[in-house]
Amino acid sequence: MAPPGPKRSRDLLEQPRRFWRSFRLAESPSVDTPDEVTHSSDLWDGNWDEVRDAWDLDPSRAHLNHGSFGAVPRLVRAAETHWRGLADANPMHYYRTLLPPAIVSARAAAADFLGTVQDALALVSNTTAGVSTVLAALALREGEEVLLTDHAYGAVALAVARFAGAAGAQVKAVKVPLTATDEEVVRAVADGITSRTRLVLIDQITSPTARLFPVRRVAEEARARGVTVFVDGAHVPGMLPVDVEALGADFWVGNFHKWAFAGRSVAGLWVAPSWRPQIQPLVVSWNEEQRFPAAFDQQGTRDGAVWLALPDALRFFESLEPERLRQYNNGLAAYGQSVVASALGTSLDGVGGDPRLSMRLVALPRGVADTGEAATALYERISRDLHVEVAVTSWAGRGWLRLSAQAYNAPAEYERFAHGIAGLLR
Ligand SMILES: Cc1ncc(COP(=O)(O)O)c(C=O)c1O
Repeated sequence: MAPPGPKRSRDLLEQPRRFWRSFRLAESPSVDTPDEVTHSSDLWDGNWDEVRDAWDLDPSRAHLNHGSFGAVPRLVRAAETHWRGLADANPMHYYRTLLPPAIVSARAAAADFLGTVQDALALVSNTTAGVSTVLAALALREGEEVLLTDHAYGAVALAVARFAGAAGAQVKAVKVPLTATDEEVVRAVADGITSRTRLVLIDQITSPTARLFPVRRVAEEARARGVTVFVDGAHVPGMLPVDVEALGADFWVGNFHKWAFAGRSVAGLWVAPSWRPQIQPLVVSWNEEQRFPAAFDQQGTRDGAVWLALPDALRFFESLEPERLRQYNNGLAAYGQSVVASALGTSLDGVGGDPRLSMRLVALPRGVADTGEAATALYERISRDLHVEVAVTSWAGRGWLRLSAQAYNAPAEYERFAHGIAGLLR
């Protein structure tokens, strides 16, 4: 099918373009960071080139996969550089005097952002680390079961397989159709629970399929049956407002380095009060006796700059006016999905798309990228030939494109990709 005609594009583009024209950085509080880090600017009042200039992304490429690794704004990196400069100028003073209280402040800012208190939240490097930390503490036993869905993140499923395998426990992945309603998701998980189920590990926003799962209701069902609940919220901070306490889970983990603009890598691991005495970092270090969460603050000599710059990243995020930013990103992701699907001639029926999310799927034609290897090969071709960065995945025996939208993206990038991918697969 031909790429979308100019008229259709112009109509669909009108709203995002109007939005850009009125998009301004809000006034933000002054912060205790070096001079070159500024949180107020008129970046958003100009054209898109100026907007994009807040990031150091390679301008020759369309970056349509914010979801996988995020993108660090230049001013956040400047804050990291500031902290590294202090470490290099006087390592003793930095590690002995500056770092410990600054990590506590970063943790407090992170907790506040997630609607919780600092005693409930440990900083960890990433969601992957948080998952293994919790699985290690659970001490699964022979004959028990861990329940996932078939939308779970691959590396998380590998961690579950390792810990369950070592304990002689089983892993069960329940199938959830791509366009299952909330009710159907809850039922699929609840029906998968047996008397042996020890843990339900459920994604809040799924990675291969860009679904928003009703985790509060899943947690309710699981806990009513005495089953521990762990929510993988890797994509949540920044993409959705978070009130982690309200989810009713035992554990929750989410990355700040995806949608909250932090440097790589920093994540928050939230733990319900009854579990806190049992949760320890995988790496033993000097804060061992302080237990959760302070035990996580120090892990030998490590570069803490990214964690210390987290409050700057969160202030940058807030300064973009989260609701306006989300509205823009979610609308742009929907627009991207429609132009790319229409260029490929693949239907959106049965694919879905949640207006609350900034990621959308497009089905590839049958037989394209339907295995992991084929998906990797197609990604490499797209990157090399089209100069577009996009997630290509295979899920449920079929190839998919997962498109993200972030402030640095513009509608024209999705149009260019739509045109290019249609030509590439012709
Ligand atoms: C749902 C989900 N869980 C876990 C992860 C792993 O995150 P990280 O690589 O930061 O550990 C991801 C990364 O994309 C994810 O999407």
